Amino acid sequence: MFRSVRGMKDLYGREAEKYDFICNKFRSIGERYGFEMIYTPLLEYTDVFSRSIGDETDVVSKEMYSFLDKGDESVTLRPEGTAGAIRAIVCEHLDQFLPVKVMYCGEMFRYDRPQKGRFRQFRQFGIEWIEEKNPYTDAITIAIAVDCIQSIGLFDFKVLINSLGDEETRENYTKAIVKYLSRHEDMLSIESQARLKKNPLRILDSKNNQDIEICSMAPIFIDYLSKEARLYFNKVCSLLEDYGINYEINHFLVRGLDYYSHTAFEIQSTSSSYRDALGGGGRYDRLLSVFGGQDVSGIGFAIGIERLMILMDSLFVQKNRRKIAVIPVSETENSFAFSVFRNLQECELPVEFIHHGNLSKKMKIADRLGCNIAILLGENEIQDKTATVKFMNSCDAAMKTKIIKLDDIINFLRCN
Ligand code: HAM
Repeated sequence: MFRSVRGMKDLYGREAEKYDFICNKFRSIGERYGFEMIYTPLLEYTDVFSRSIGDETDVVSKEMYSFLDKGDESVTLRPEGTAGAIRAIVCEHLDQFLPVKVMYCGEMFRYDRPQKGRFRQFRQFGIEWIEEKNPYTDAITIAIAVDCIQSIGLFDFKVLINSLGDEETRENYTKAIVKYLSRHEDMLSIESQARLKKNPLRILDSKNNQDIEICSMAPIFIDYLSKEARLYFNKVCSLLEDYGINYEINHFLVRGLDYYSHTAFEIQSTSSSYRDALGGGGRYDRLLSVFGGQDVSGIGFAIGIERLMILMDSLFVQKNRRKIAVIPVSETENSFAFSVFRNLQECELPVEFIHHGNLSKKMKIADRLGCNIAILLGENEIQDKTATVKFMNSCDAAMKTKIIKLDDIINFLRCN
């Protein structure tokens, strides 16, 4: 038997429907905030990622699907959307006119250990917003991420934020953390010992228990923020309060990618069925310059769609979806029912014609096809020029069955 590659799932049926539902919902929220879609290649030259995300990060050093193509060029399946989006913005000179506001939804690839909510091929919805740095943009970006998650009926999450400050902050903080970690060097994991020399901040991402314990006593960014960075962070926090967004400051939130500066944030699930990051993002001051673009800052986030799919109630999708089944009660009504089906289809209503088996089998097929309204046409209905409309999965008893005149059926279906 053939099987799919480990950590890469087939998406079909209700799951595919959930995926489309989430993407469409997020896209419409993005549009409402003025973002336009950008589609970048799944494959980029490897240095697009290594130069921006950072050689020492877990993503670049352990998780990338990189290989030499037939022309001996090192290429990589994108592990995230930001690097490719910014590369495209610079290559296409979109940064000549600011602001640039793009969004994307699609596949990402990371060679990680598969587990609940962690896959080797997964999907993200993300936005990137390039504009002169200002705290309003940071607060609105976080609000968009919160809006997206709430729009699909999820409320069990918390927003964590931190500031990684400006270059001056990072220089001072790096000195402090190297000094602190050097005192515990022989207790650090081998990997963290190597990182101490190359990229000490990445030790804060370590998943090794001993490293985590040592890092829990390490100096924190907030104590090293320059005056400017502190004012900036305070303003972002007060704007979030104006927005009514509850947040927690988490001093150890550094995010696993090198490109961040100033605001970094993560949205974490607090649901008992899944507790991990649903999305995350932050500001990047230097990313456009890395690709040779304008010296302008940007901010963005990405949300992992599979993680939302675990948490999302499929009833929520059904509530927002309407699919009609036209069902002749017996074979005698087939041709009449077929003409009703064609009529509904011409009116662009989502409709199935179900005519195999007895009535109970037809109802089961309608349910399997995800229909939530059945139009039953029997002898009496044809005689009275009516249809019996049955709301499947309806909790409202009064709505369960209705007799509607055939002349009014299209209007009725459009309104229900
Ligand atoms: P990230 O935190 O690496 O950020 O990923 C964002 C989200 O993608 C995570 O919170 C998680 O929900 C999901 N995710 C990550 N890895 C996996 C996986 N192996 N399986 C399933 N879901 C996963 C970024 O990717 C940044 N590019 C976000 C950003 C945009 N920052 C600025 N702009």
